[in-house]
Amino acid sequence: MCGIVGYTGTQQAAPILLEGLKKLEYRGYDSAGIAILSGDAITVSKISGKVDKLVEKTEGGRNCPGTSGIGHTRWATHGAPTDINAHPHLSNDGRFAVVHNGIIENYQELRDELLAKGFVFYSETDTEVVVNLLELYDEGDVKKAVMRTASRLRGSYALGVVCTDEPGCIYAMRESSPLIIGIGVGENYFASDVTALVSYTRNAVYLDDGEFARISAEKAEIFDSSGTEIRKKISRITWDVQTAEKGGYEHFMLKEITEQPRAIKAAIDPRLHGREVTMDDLVLSDRYLKGLKKILITACGSSYYAGCAGRYAIEQFSGIPVEVVLASELRYGNALIDRHTLMIAVSQSGETADTIAAIREGKSRGAKVLAIVNVVGSTIAKLADWTLYTWAGPEISVATTKGYTTQLTVLYLFSLYLAKRIGIVSEEKYNRMADALNALPRLIQESLDMNPSIPRIAGKYHSFRSMFFIGRNTDYAASLEGALKMKEISYIHAESYPAGELKHGTIALISDGQPVVALCCNDFISEKTASNIIEVKARGAKVIAVTFRDNQNILSLADDVIYIPRIETELSPVVEIVPLQMLAYHVAKENGCDIDKPRNLAKSVTVE
Ligand code: F6R
Repeated sequence: MCGIVGYTGTQQAAPILLEGLKKLEYRGYDSAGIAILSGDAITVSKISGKVDKLVEKTEGGRNCPGTSGIGHTRWATHGAPTDINAHPHLSNDGRFAVVHNGIIENYQELRDELLAKGFVFYSETDTEVVVNLLELYDEGDVKKAVMRTASRLRGSYALGVVCTDEPGCIYAMRESSPLIIGIGVGENYFASDVTALVSYTRNAVYLDDGEFARISAEKAEIFDSSGTEIRKKISRITWDVQTAEKGGYEHFMLKEITEQPRAIKAAIDPRLHGREVTMDDLVLSDRYLKGLKKILITACGSSYYAGCAGRYAIEQFSGIPVEVVLASELRYGNALIDRHTLMIAVSQSGETADTIAAIREGKSRGAKVLAIVNVVGSTIAKLADWTLYTWAGPEISVATTKGYTTQLTVLYLFSLYLAKRIGIVSEEKYNRMADALNALPRLIQESLDMNPSIPRIAGKYHSFRSMFFIGRNTDYAASLEGALKMKEISYIHAESYPAGELKHGTIALISDGQPVVALCCNDFISEKTASNIIEVKARGAKVIAVTFRDNQNILSLADDVIYIPRIETELSPVVEIVPLQMLAYHVAKENGCDIDKPRNLAKSVTVE
């Protein structure tokens, strides 16, 4: 969703801010803008549409001179994506400019109050109240105005502020929205996402909720909400510039699909030594584990589907019942959660608003929370009692690929960890699973290599308006993610369905030529899925089977085949999803879709 950047130093700020905004494009946005502070004047340039248009409008930043400033990519919430609603916004007296990620929940009440005091509003945004509150509370001390303004705001925000009274200074404030200060030499930065910082510095300070920073070229002072200066640890950003760039691939999605063997290795290596799983970041006492009555996995979208696929291994190896609940539903349902519940929150970005709300709910009912997260220092990582990072590296494409498979890998590792601590599996089974996990990077690579026919299959089916994805048990779990990938990047309606359930109504939709992707990688029930394939074929469906090379029964039924290497059944979803990502990619390419930035979607969904 929205992204913010800030720079102050000795170089021209505008080109640096524009570059930072380009790095944030992947998050999804519909307008962009910058505000540059020069002497006692602020120059604002903003536009609806792409950052490239802003680059053109500002002549690469040359017509906005000045060495400090703030920038924004906006994903419209309050008001349409117009030039006027784009950020930065200026205060009525023109002395303050503000960029904002998040939502000010009490903006209507603040707007009414400011209108009554004679302030004029030009945009429909919630953000304009912030910049006018700054003007209202400014009595010659910008820091105090920032603090008073923050004390009036309810909701979530990462805010960047400049004021003509403090040339060379940029302010940054955080509440429930990520904000990172980049520490340079003779220049400093802020950004809502490390990808905008890595080209300039690897030294970062992660702000916590309620904190704000006054940043000049020489130093970054961090304050708590009472205005007391605090010392914060400088962390090292480990993501490198190349992983955040396309590196010769046509799309980030393709690059990230092919990165999966490496990403999965990075998730496994620090935790699996031979057949021994260690989880240093996790301290679960024997007493706590013995008292556990249930594990509740909560997440949204693909992360939820990773939970759906991971539950089988956890249940089987630990003997603890696992419930998987959509984070957006959790608060409104009656999921039984208490101190005997371990909540596992899964999130690539670590910033998904519904997942954050679900964690808060879980904690308030006494559960401990284990987060499985990719982005270091994210809100979810901070909120949880324990965090297991997925170490997938930056995921730029909006549709997750390596994010999902590394989440699933960590869930599998966790299931083995539980197997060792309280498990109910035989040693022989445990050993087989550990060996399979060790082999996973190689198997993922094989599943990429053994399917050169996917572009041809995509060419055959890309013009259909709908597709079914069917499977049972672990195959069904993988089909959920397979169908989501197809929907979100190719805009083809794709429905995942438990294969055995089709005949209870939905089979009425199967008619001549209907593509059905049948996942048959679960040896225990592959035969049952075979009979469902026969049912849909009898009604004219064209079947694309996903299976092993030696599964003769399924091969003889299918119209087209996608192969995966043999793998333990419990782990099969992580392998079978990889060629399905490829299938969705090639179908979307055939259809000329904007693969890395599908319409209406944002990388990190920070609204509920
Ligand atoms: C789909 C996709 C989304 C995310 C969902 C949760 O490709 O990426 O469905 O999985 O928005 O996001 P995170 O994992 O960041 O909490």
